[in-house]
Amino acid sequence: MKESVQRMITDILNPAALRGQVAFITGGGSGINLAIGKALARLGANVGICGRTAERLDAGRRELEAAGAKVFTAVADVRDDAAVQAAVAGCGEALGPISFAVCGAAGNFVAPAEAISPKGFRTVVEIDLLGAFHAAHACFEQLRQTRGALLFVSGGQSYVPFAYQAHVGAAKAGIDNLMANLALEWGRHGIRANSIVPGPIEGTEGMNRMGGESAEAIWKAMTPLGRMGRLEDVANVAAFLATPLAAYITGARIAVDGGQNLTGSHVFNRAIGDALEASKGETT
Ligand code: COA
Repeated sequence: MKESVQRMITDILNPAALRGQVAFITGGGSGINLAIGKALARLGANVGICGRTAERLDAGRRELEAAGAKVFTAVADVRDDAAVQAAVAGCGEALGPISFAVCGAAGNFVAPAEAISPKGFRTVVEIDLLGAFHAAHACFEQLRQTRGALLFVSGGQSYVPFAYQAHVGAAKAGIDNLMANLALEWGRHGIRANSIVPGPIEGTEGMNRMGGESAEAIWKAMTPLGRMGRLEDVANVAAFLATPLAAYITGARIAVDGGQNLTGSHVFNRAIGDALEASKGETT
């Protein structure tokens, strides 16, 4: 089972499936977003990435080039609409019109609702939800030209509330609603919009913030498939959504979570509550 999950995407899909396509990925320098970029690159796509730090983008560039892509990078914080617009325009000029836009940049911290300042709440909503809107909005004209697709990276907090994630839940639920709205409105231009909902994916910054390795046993117990997800689990589904195999899929919220959303958040809530109590109420 392990081996089949870890097979390369090109063992299954034609390595030229996305030749001539251009992907643009916010937060694309690391984690799940970079893994998506690499899967797209392995299928022949060229990839533009934006993010907050040049160092992370440079590291991402090297991995994407090794996966076969021509790469464009732009330092842009998704909260800054003008910077996102410039990055999207630059990507189009450097690589050609964008046909797959991944709104993936996200921020998270774990804190009880009463300890989240209005600025803290706003910061996460601005990165996740407003940032996703900025990217989708900036990509619209190029996606219209290519009859391309949008992919939003949502979260399990969109299905059920998770304790100490009030800000993230609001942002992720907003992302899924935005996705559905854009699928509805932009279908007439041939633009598809979908969300992917990663479950507990090992080794990611998001998981570090939700308990890290010490919480893996809890996550496995909350996941019907009984294992942590891998970056490739999410990236492969994202790549499928970029191909013509997904030509009639739009407005879908696709969980890639081993079934975690079926079990709710109770076990996590109790464990994180105990952890916060043990650290005398300090936030992590
Ligand atoms: N508990 C409570 N509030 C917190 C917090 C915590 N653990 N961490 C940050 N905040 C609050 C800050 O206190 C601040 O509000 P305040 O000035 O009223 O106190 C507000 O959030 C903004 O924090 P700041 O550090 O200035 O924002 P930033 O733009 O530098 O960072 C974050 C944004 C907070 C989301 C940061 O965690 C980040 O950059 N994350 C990106 C990576 C990431 O989270 N990846 C996982 C994705 S799933």
